[in-house]
Amino acid sequence: MVTTPSKEDYMEAIWSLIQDKGYARTVDVADRLGVNSASVSKMIQRLDGDGLLVYERYRGLNLTDEGYKLGQQLSIRHHTLEKFFQHLGMNQPDEVYETVEGIEHYVNANVYRRIDSLVNYIEQHPDWWQHFILASDHE
Ligand code: FE2
Repeated sequence: MVTTPSKEDYMEAIWSLIQDKGYARTVDVADRLGVNSASVSKMIQRLDGDGLLVYERYRGLNLTDEGYKLGQQLSIRHHTLEKFFQHLGMNQPDEVYETVEGIEHYVNANVYRRIDSLVNYIEQHPDWWQHFILASDHE
């Protein structure tokens, strides 16, 4: 991933707001990320400059194709990492979310690829995984 952690947070938030509501306003992004509107405006200018979105004063913001792809990739990665921790037995949604938010930007492509294939394998072989989880609970 070429972007810095906070840019990734913005791209993920904007992408998922657009999926949920069809649009993302500065105030929505600020709410989602718990930051003030001034910080959002500053970052939006950077993301616009990077060609990830287009900001028009009266029409709000729109993702470019590249921005859409990046936001989608980041959201899929977030979701896969959540599944990984759920499979490990973490069942508090808030705890899972916080854990993923804490590590997702530090998971490089190679580590992510391995976690992703493990999650796929677990989902294709639930008995195998159940056996491992039960065995490790008794250690
Ligand atoms: Fe995330």
